[in-house]
Amino acid sequence: MRVLGIETSCDETAVAVVDAPAGDRPIGRILANVIYSQLTEHRRFGGVVPEIAARAHLERLDGLVAEALATAGVGFGDLDGIAATGGPGLIGGVMVGVMTAKAIAFAHDKPFLAINHLEGHALSARLTEEVAFPYLLLLVSGGHCQLVGVGGADDFRVYGGTIDDAVGEAFDKTAKLLGLPYPGGPAVEKCAQKGNPRAYDLPRPLLNRRTDGRGDKRNEGRADFSFSGLKTAVRQLVQGPVNIDDISASFQAAVIDILCDRSRLAMAMFSRDFPAAKNFVVAGGVAANQAIGRALTGLSEEEGFLTHIPPPRLCTDNAAMIAWAGIERLSDNIRGDALSVSPRARWPLGVVPARFEPNT
Ligand code: KG4
Ligand code: ZN
Repeated sequence: MRVLGIETSCDETAVAVVDAPAGDRPIGRILANVIYSQLTEHRRFGGVVPEIAARAHLERLDGLVAEALATAGVGFGDLDGIAATGGPGLIGGVMVGVMTAKAIAFAHDKPFLAINHLEGHALSARLTEEVAFPYLLLLVSGGHCQLVGVGGADDFRVYGGTIDDAVGEAFDKTAKLLGLPYPGGPAVEKCAQKGNPRAYDLPRPLLNRRTDGRGDKRNEGRADFSFSGLKTAVRQLVQGPVNIDDISASFQAAVIDILCDRSRLAMAMFSRDFPAAKNFVVAGGVAANQAIGRALTGLSEEEGFLTHIPPPRLCTDNAAMIAWAGIERLSDNIRGDALSVSPRARWPLGVVPARFEPNT
């Protein structure tokens, strides 16, 4: 099984070729994984500009497809499917990836697979490690912040999400307030290493609280996140003189407390749904943060879970995870999607399974 993956939902133009040797529960083999990061295009705006992103995807994608195939040493005829991120994401970029994948699939008579970007992140741990279903997933990226029970390649139960900002977004906005470069996550982490995490007393919204108002009883309600109050507190602090390293460290400490508290709650909910399962996967760009990874690993140990964090290049946006999600679907004997399937800006995980979705 060999699949070409295309990812264009945000500011990375990425193409990969992944194969899965036949056999019992094989993990994947990445034959090529090329990424063009549009950082320089967007940096001076302090964030991703959708129109610029779409144009940059269009300019680069064909060249990257050729490069990925050459690196993998395969041609279009050697592929079993063409997978592209079908959403959610910046619609101009998603359209570029989906149209390219459809054209290749049509011209070479291969299955086309529209992959939910979140599903790509959710399944990425299984590409490099034998992580059996079901597992609890904490997806933390620039656009998403969710706790999900993954029962299978197409079985997602959402235990919690963010009611305002995603955690990566909170890092990016905090970095901007502190005058640190974009993307903010790595910059804040670097400063935090030199700072005192107790220097500033920052809020931990929703900590130890249910978000459904049903009281504090564990195992009920949702494990939701909120980060905007934290960002506002930083905004107020920077009105006066501050130490950037100390603020970064205090901010990161608050994020860690929130992520650990919500994950602990979700572990209880997940254990109720899947009593025997003990795997905890952390994915998305923020999973590259070492301090967050250490804290979550410690929490897992306390709660009797085993943590799996994909390598950084598979945590941030990439096409290998999209190709892999395509492989998971094709190996479940699921046919490809109709060429009439449309790209989507919004596409919640666990609400609409891709393969049953008609053209909308
Ligand atoms: O998964 P990703 O590459 O793209 C999205 O789908 O959003 O995640 C990018 C996000 C950005 O917000 C970035 O600031 C954050 O992940 N990030 C980090 C770190 N590296 C990337 N956040 C905290 N610490 C890091 N080391
Ligand atoms: Zn992502």
